[in-house]
Amino acid sequence: MRKIRVDLIAAARPNFMKVAPLYKALGREPSWCSVRLVHTGQHYDANMSDAFFRDLGLPQPHILLGVGSGTHAEQTAGVMVAYEKVCLADAPDWAVVVGDVNSTLACTLAATKLGIKVAHLEAGLRSGDRSMPEELNRLATDALADLLWTPSEDADENLAREGASPERVVRVGNIMIDSLVMMRPVIEQHAYYAKLGVEPGRFGVVTLHRPSNVDEPERLRALVEILRGAAARMPLVFPVHPRTRQRLRDQGLWKSLEAAPGMRLLEPAGYVDFMSLVFNSAYALTDSGGLQEETTYLGIPCLTLRENTERPITITLGTNRLVSPESLAAALEDVFESRWPKGRVPELWDGRTAERAVESLHRAVQRSPGLR
Ligand code: UD1
Repeated sequence: MRKIRVDLIAAARPNFMKVAPLYKALGREPSWCSVRLVHTGQHYDANMSDAFFRDLGLPQPHILLGVGSGTHAEQTAGVMVAYEKVCLADAPDWAVVVGDVNSTLACTLAATKLGIKVAHLEAGLRSGDRSMPEELNRLATDALADLLWTPSEDADENLAREGASPERVVRVGNIMIDSLVMMRPVIEQHAYYAKLGVEPGRFGVVTLHRPSNVDEPERLRALVEILRGAAARMPLVFPVHPRTRQRLRDQGLWKSLEAAPGMRLLEPAGYVDFMSLVFNSAYALTDSGGLQEETTYLGIPCLTLRENTERPITITLGTNRLVSPESLAAALEDVFESRWPKGRVPELWDGRTAERAVESLHRAVQRSPGLR
């Protein structure tokens, strides 16, 4: 049997931690596959992209699509057109897409229409909230992909309910935890918090970038007030996403947030710097998907400023709680008074997800050896 060729698609910040362990695991199988790393360019700033490649030991991508920012349609269409050209010139046998960003869906559409097989890593997550662009990306990607690699039982159930045939669904575990386990020794050596003048266990970490939190001026203003109050109780470290920075500046809120006692606003942090903060934090306040999982793994209280989550297991088993601007103050009291459940680590969140995904791909290839 000839070797199969796999494109591994990377696009935006949360993708890089999912791609790195898989890139390494596929690289350990030179007898049956070769990998091409494709970066769509959805995130392009040094601190949103290059820093993660460096920290996670990823090489320069083999192919750069350079699509950049735009409206949803512009960005999705731009990636489709660019990736289709790559496939027409030199088609892979499989494309592996991760997560739920616009590039995930765009590459899935371009590839499946050319008859290229697609595997989706982190399949089956559902928030049930169709106002989130990511939910639409998840639904459409999972409807089209040939192999659906899921992190947890709830994801399998979602896919079964939507009619995915069981042969397409393989529970492999949580890939974010692979990166965390892989990088743990480096993270633990790296006391980034010390550079910021905060003490371990005596500060909170904030990340906010969802349109539902930062695009609506009144909501953003209310959140700034809450953050100012929280920072006065315990220092807060807040690496600010470019979208959030822009909105804070547009609304004239940046200066008052920056000047708040106890508040440290930073540029977006690289993986090791950021995880060093999380490892040593008292709690996280976030609307990120990945951070809900990382805090569950680490047993750190996580307050998620959203009405829903596509990762419900972080609430039922882990240390996550959904909060609103109204309920946040009470939740913070629970953190400060150490009234937070300890939580448990879900099954298969063990650092071996990439290995299981590669095994699953190998089995799929063996079932259809005559590919292309
Ligand atoms: C995207 C993903 C989201 C993910 C988030 C992590 C979609 C629909 N959304 O949202 O799921 O949680 O990434 O960051 O795919 N910008 C820069 N530099 C960059 C990248 C973006 O300045 O390197 C600016 C853009 O100009 C734009 C804004 O940030 O104004 C938003 O970027 P975009 O990639 O469209 O969406 P995110 O909000 O980052």
